[in-house]
Amino acid sequence: MRLTVIGTGYLGAVHAACMADIGHEVLGVDVDAEKIRALTEGRPPFFEPGLDEVLTRALDSGRLRFSTSLSEAAAFGEVHFVCVGTPQQAGSDAADLRHVDAVIDGLVPHLSSPCLIVGKSTVPVGTTPRIAARLRGLAPEGVDVEVAWNPEFLREGFAVEDTLRPDRLVAGVTSPRADGILREVYAPMLDAGIPYISTDPATAELVKVAANSFLATKISFINAMAEVCDAAGADVSTLADALGHDTRIGRRFLNAGLGFGGGCLPKDIRAFTARARELGVGEAVSFLRQVDDINLRQRLRTVAIARDLVGGAFSGHRIAVLGATFKPNSDDVRDSPALAVAAAVHREGGEVRVHDPEGIYNAHLAHPELRYEDDVLTACRGADVVLHLTEWSQYREADPVKLARVVCAPRLVDARNNLDAGLWRSAGWTVRTLGRPGPATVPAPQRGGGALGHSSARGCAAPAEGAVLSRAPK
Ligand code: UGA
Repeated sequence: MRLTVIGTGYLGAVHAACMADIGHEVLGVDVDAEKIRALTEGRPPFFEPGLDEVLTRALDSGRLRFSTSLSEAAAFGEVHFVCVGTPQQAGSDAADLRHVDAVIDGLVPHLSSPCLIVGKSTVPVGTTPRIAARLRGLAPEGVDVEVAWNPEFLREGFAVEDTLRPDRLVAGVTSPRADGILREVYAPMLDAGIPYISTDPATAELVKVAANSFLATKISFINAMAEVCDAAGADVSTLADALGHDTRIGRRFLNAGLGFGGGCLPKDIRAFTARARELGVGEAVSFLRQVDDINLRQRLRTVAIARDLVGGAFSGHRIAVLGATFKPNSDDVRDSPALAVAAAVHREGGEVRVHDPEGIYNAHLAHPELRYEDDVLTACRGADVVLHLTEWSQYREADPVKLARVVCAPRLVDARNNLDAGLWRSAGWTVRTLGRPGPATVPAPQRGGGALGHSSARGCAAPAEGAVLSRAPK
């Protein structure tokens, strides 16, 4: 089939490459000429494991090309997938649909043959009929255009896998014709036994926001338990393991810590709340406000623990931050809890040094006031406290003995409950977590000239401090 994918961000670029990979002729379209050039050259404009390979394969097959022209898209496609962003509106919790509307306004007047427009962006329930009414006013005389909603459930970091082998496909359609077209698009997945749920557009739109709301609620639930665990001297990780054995609950998305961020969960629960209020059922989802509050509180709690560890104020202290992205295996820093903590510490006068394996470029754009380092050792050199804020596997593999030698004081806040606290403690570190009270400090092993020789923050004279200070901020 001839498909267009309009909007080539995290969702659209992956969808375009994967649709070509399963045999369709695909035209990816974006207003960003730089992004289109990169994709045409086989360079994904963001970090996503496995995307390079699929993109290269699709381009080499000749079935995938990119353009900035919506009129070219109109002439090319039988099915047009709308994959543009629906961010939070400035000054409101509601979703901003201006990019979706712009695609409809730019595409529909150029259509000349029957086609199906399929929304994949996350939208407030009721968007499909609104778009259908809009396009009726724009479609050229005699051109049969229909609209359907087919929400996307891919996770960043697993986007290719989730697109090629999704848990389920959901189609919100208003005619058997639209349903037939979507079944044809996804035929290889249907043949592989992936569940296909055909429903009305309102249900399809709601499935997406309900799924993200449920996931956010699960995370905030376990983070609420973490606060109780801290007060009661219990261990939230063991609690989560024990809960997770109940298959009705499940262990996934029960990792307590710094909480959720990114371009989806936070704005989706807010937009859902706003839409429910418009529908007169705000009370029904009012718990999502608490989900949001619990989540944001984790950031404050992390800052408070770190502040406490350096003696009550950040001023005059160096703080190493491990992780800037909202989760590992992504370079996305949108509403990143890690960066929010780093920025808060900086605002309070801390000398912040941030490391991230993939997110430094984006983090620097969002927070140029912070200082970024290319390697973990440099970021930690001379630090009075190390904050582990995004659970990249390389941090788990880091050697706490080696790190203890370069810091000013071996103090760690593991805000993702992902490091081996026992290992770090036995290397002399004071380890604090969210929800896992442990021994505050374990006597350090004897080391000649090691980090414990510099246990006082202000008295610290870390050997390579000069080198750190002489590095120009990137
Ligand atoms: C989320 C959903 O998981 C996808 O199904 C959905 O398609 C996507 O939003 C979207 O709406 O497009 P994503 O934003 O990539 O995907 O990230 P998640 O893997 O859901 O993680 C979200 C946040 O929750 C991250 O900051 C992560 O660190 C945090 N998290 C996750 C926890 O704090 N604890 C957990 O147990 C799991």
